[in-house]
Amino acid sequence: MNQKIWSDVDSYYEKLIVRPDPRFNKIIEASLEAGLPSINITSSLGKLLELLVRFQGASRVLEIGTLGGYSTAWFAQGLPPGGKVISLEIDSERAAIALRNLSQFEFSNLVDIQVGDALDMMKTLHETGEGPFDLIFIDAEKSQYCEYLEWAIKLSRPGTMIVADNVVRRGKIIDESSEDSSVNGIRAFNDKVSQDPHLRATVLQTVSPKGHDGFYLIYVDPESQIK
Ligand code: DHB
Ligand code: MG
Repeated sequence: MNQKIWSDVDSYYEKLIVRPDPRFNKIIEASLEAGLPSINITSSLGKLLELLVRFQGASRVLEIGTLGGYSTAWFAQGLPPGGKVISLEIDSERAAIALRNLSQFEFSNLVDIQVGDALDMMKTLHETGEGPFDLIFIDAEKSQYCEYLEWAIKLSRPGTMIVADNVVRRGKIIDESSEDSSVNGIRAFNDKVSQDPHLRATVLQTVSPKGHDGFYLIYVDPESQIK
């Protein structure tokens, strides 16, 4: 019952307000046909990512976890000419599917999908001076969220926005004795955020066709010691 009303409301606002480019739904269809898991973000969260790029005046976006390129497309749609979204994906088949999904868009020249281990690639981005990024989206292996965060901070400037997906997990996140590696990875991430005086953060819970979950918004504030 709850799930149905969450999905119906999502659908109502999707049609009225979110209004994804019809080709965005084709990304999801093509990803499903290619056998990718149905763990893409919702259109309402995608639209939020586009708006955050615009609010932030971001021209450089880093995404950890490409999957089929659906969230990548929302980021790219918010970018100004000359902007760039670098998206890191460990699975070369997924990266190829994403590349194909995104090739049809005018903004495809703003997208750079890099294949490999995200932590290695973040290190390289740092060493080669590809940072700082204006907005960083963490959405890959949940057990590694803490390590992604460490590199994300190194790839940030004062005022960078870090967004992290799937941090509620149908409420499982509050289970202190969980044996789920995803839950424990995110709990370690939570500890790290809570202990870092340079991060100002909040978490928003969401209900949607994907169930009950949530995401972080983090502001990198090197001047601040205040939580
Ligand atoms: C999972 C991963 C995601 O990024 C997501 O949005 C939902 C679920 C998962 O691995 O279960
Ligand atoms: Mg996710």
